[in-house]
Amino acid sequence: MTKAIILSGGWGTRLRPLTCTIPKTLIPVGNRPVIERQMLLLKKAGINEIVLAVSVMSDYLNNYFGNGEKLKLKLHYTDEKTPMGTAGALKLAEEYLGDDNFFMVNGDVILNFDFKDMLNIHNNQNKIGTIASRLVDNPTRYGVLIIDEKTQNILEFLEKERFNLPIKKNQKFPVNAGIYILEPEIFSYIQPYKKLSLERDVFPILATERKLSHYTISGIWKDIGLPNELLEGNILLMKEILKNNDISNNNLIESNANIDPSVKIKSPVNIGENVIIEQNCVIGPNAIIGHNVNIGVNCEIKETLIFNNVNISENTKIEKTIIADNCYVQKNAILKGKKDQPVILSSYVHINENIKLIASSDHPISICHHEVVKEDIK
Ligand code: GDD
Ligand code: MG
Repeated sequence: MTKAIILSGGWGTRLRPLTCTIPKTLIPVGNRPVIERQMLLLKKAGINEIVLAVSVMSDYLNNYFGNGEKLKLKLHYTDEKTPMGTAGALKLAEEYLGDDNFFMVNGDVILNFDFKDMLNIHNNQNKIGTIASRLVDNPTRYGVLIIDEKTQNILEFLEKERFNLPIKKNQKFPVNAGIYILEPEIFSYIQPYKKLSLERDVFPILATERKLSHYTISGIWKDIGLPNELLEGNILLMKEILKNNDISNNNLIESNANIDPSVKIKSPVNIGENVIIEQNCVIGPNAIIGHNVNIGVNCEIKETLIFNNVNISENTKIEKTIIADNCYVQKNAILKGKKDQPVILSSYVHINENIKLIASSDHPISICHHEVVKEDIK
């Protein structure tokens, strides 16, 4: 039976300050941790045993998922004291995965594709690895695959900093989507007890030996490693769920949300459990609101992601913002981010009354956890 390993032990530095209080893979997409969505998708493909390669904030993941019983999965955790790199982390899981081929997934990507189909293709290829690939316009933040058109073999694997080919207008590049099927032989390419990267130290060698193939994935795919990607990813996922489920009002709203009849909902929105929204608010489009969130009268919230247990007081206007758990925004506040630079409030931030936080291109706004904001930032 094929098993899987999900990588969940990086620092998540590009998502700071959000990742100061929550590991990247526990960040919600569509009101569920991104890694939990991956687990459920793997389970759907018949994979019931998963290794979580954890390191930074490993206790958070352990506390949240335990032995996997609630999800009806068997979970194992690796013992990685400090981040060992993607290959070093895999090597530590050899005892669980050494017998048969297995899936490996970067724990910070939103995806929705058929793992079984990928496995079938891999099983017909006689390679050590099959890498899920995706065509993108701008490959500079990914690992780029140089592919032999005829054989579909990967000739070169160039992780972002090694990619230096010219990018022509309208040209698309196949990149590493962060999902692999690997044969146990991979373990002989990784020295034990060393910090090593699959993408930098192992895949380039396998490519030279012509032992890597690829599988093009379609459907939703988004790495949530940057704040704007996290916001966009949440919006994309919401639209994808709505499309696949043909929901008539075009919104995902939990049945126990308490929304005043005067509230104007602009589709699409995603509203979690035990949410209270008071009179005359305008919510959406593209608002993703977590569980146990209270929103006072006359608020306007759009293009925004709110985690759980947040309080927003009356007359507040929020746009292009990410608000982590347990924040409190007092009345008359204005929070306004820019397209590629959402305003970020980390956990337990308190925004005082009448405060304005307005981001500009040369002035991104990120508030560290537990801070109390008493002055405008513009
Ligand atoms: N256990 C463990 N230990 N996990 C780690 C470590 C580590 O030392 N370092 C990173 N990870 C995990 C991260 O938590 C994340 O889930 C995954 O490995 C990938 O690391 P990122 O830091 O997010 O890498 P990236 O997004 O810059 O690039 C990777 O993903 C792209 C696709 O989204 C690469 O695999 C690229 O080649 C790829 O294109
Ligand atoms: Mg990433």
